[in-house]
Amino acid sequence: MNIVITGASRGLGAALARHWAAPGVDLALIGRDEAALQAVARDCAARGASTRLALLDVRDASAMAAQLLAWDDARPVGLVVANAGVTAGTRPDGAFEGAEAAARVLAVNLQGALNLVEPLLPRLAARRAGRVVLIASVAAFRGLPDSPAYCASKAGLWGYGESLRALLGPRGVGVTNVAPGFFESAMSDKFVAPQPFKLSAEAVAARVARAVALGHGRCVVPRRMGYALRALELLPPWLVDRAVRLFRFSVADGG
Ligand SMILES: NC(=O)c1ccc[n+]([C@@H]2O[C@H](COP(=O)([O-])OP(=O)(O)OC[C@H]3O[C@@H](n4cnc5c(N)ncnc54)[C@H](OP(=O)(O)O)[C@@H]3O)[C@@H](O)[C@H]2O)c1
Repeated sequence: MNIVITGASRGLGAALARHWAAPGVDLALIGRDEAALQAVARDCAARGASTRLALLDVRDASAMAAQLLAWDDARPVGLVVANAGVTAGTRPDGAFEGAEAAARVLAVNLQGALNLVEPLLPRLAARRAGRVVLIASVAAFRGLPDSPAYCASKAGLWGYGESLRALLGPRGVGVTNVAPGFFESAMSDKFVAPQPFKLSAEAVAARVARAVALGHGRCVVPRRMGYALRALELLPPWLVDRAVRLFRFSVADGG
């Protein structure tokens, strides 16, 4: 199995790489932190996997496409995981996230995922094989106060994945939309707020890998958090707004 993962230098991306690392598996890992990416690659190689690394910013569409097609020429890609993500949000002093931070969040989380998936889609469809995995968030299900751009990016990614799954199913390509709640990582370390039902990155990686192995179209983990946020949408706006204010949080350095 040949797997491409963005944001593989730490957090969930690194946990997924380590989870899948085994003899016969080729891991193509994308990130920008060379030392961290190499450390993950060494761990994966110790588990018997072969690895290929690329120091790329997912916002660079042409560099991404060139690298992905070269990798696919060398060994056809079977699993594509759009995981790279950043956050922003209001600061503890209440300052808004601002236009620049909001644009960065959308560019990495949404456009960056498209920059990974789109170049490979025609090839996956032509081979009638493969799976696309999109790491969104439970924040996709309901806009939360204090992180509007992040919620917009994840809602967009979720919608993209739902569309892709319907489009690609008849063409033999699977799509798994993933919505994690809080898990331990450098990203969640920045959140200044209670983080209910928080899991380890390894536990989320195991759940994602299981969903992929079973060919599931969606993976919401923990499920109760996803259901709770989705159920809120049945309430009138004034009441749901009041309810989501309970999720108030800020980001230590604005993200
Ligand atoms: N942590 C949570 O509680 C939580 C909850 C729900 C969903 N998620 C989602 O899960 C995914 C992984 O999050 P995480 O918590 O593991 O985050 P993390 O520990 O902060 O890791 C983020 C990864 O994304 C990469 N990345 C960021 N910007 C990039 C860019 N422009 N180009 C290439 N790579 C970039 C980073 O690599 P480099 O620094 O090497 O570039 C890093 O490997 C994200 O999509 C996040 O939104 C997280």
